Amino acid sequence: MEGFTLWFTGMSGAGKSTLARMVEKELLERGLKVEVLDGDIVRTNLSKGLGFSKEDRDENIRRIGFVCQLLSRNGVVAIAAAISPYREIRDENRRKIGRFVEVYVKCSVDKLIERDVKGLYKKALSGEIKNFTGISDPYEEPLNPEIVVDTEKETPEESFKKIITTLEKMGYIPPLEMDDYSEEEEEKIKNKLESLGYL
Ligand code: ADX
Repeated sequence: MEGFTLWFTGMSGAGKSTLARMVEKELLERGLKVEVLDGDIVRTNLSKGLGFSKEDRDENIRRIGFVCQLLSRNGVVAIAAAISPYREIRDENRRKIGRFVEVYVKCSVDKLIERDVKGLYKKALSGEIKNFTGISDPYEEPLNPEIVVDTEKETPEESFKKIITTLEKMGYIPPLEMDDYSEEEEEKIKNKLESLGYL
């Protein structure tokens, strides 16, 4: 199978990592090779020492993009989950990688402040953390993402299904075999069900 990059972008706490892990699990179960590059983890190794200035964020996103490029061209599904707030760098990665699917994980700032899973929004609002995305630093929404999930309105399961279905429709992953019946057997079963008034 040809690899590709599934690029999650969105603000902190929107649900990128959760969805990335759900997709990872599903694709592994389907026998595909998968690797997740999560911002929080990448920043402890590949991007250790980088901060949150525009320059450092761009560097972080370029590094993640570079690894995704290597993985994608070797038959792996590379899943990136980083805020990646700047459109230009995301698009640069898109151009370099080619087989690139952007997922915008959308959620309002109000909702993120309400959730505040890591307690970071509180600190950002009080000024304890500076340059925090969505509060005191920009987030540039994607203009033409292949997939948009609204985690304020959808359950994680709904968003997850939307992603998988789109990947199948776009031909990036093979659709699941519904069953083991041949077309002929399927036709027979359909006829039988029809004659019984079930269809
Ligand atoms: S990115 O902007 O370079 O794409 P990345 O996804 O790697 O960011 O890291 C974001 C994570 O770093 C957040 O989920 C949060 O836990 C932490 N973080 C610390 N400081 C900031 C900040 N100023 N803005 C956003 N996230 C921050």
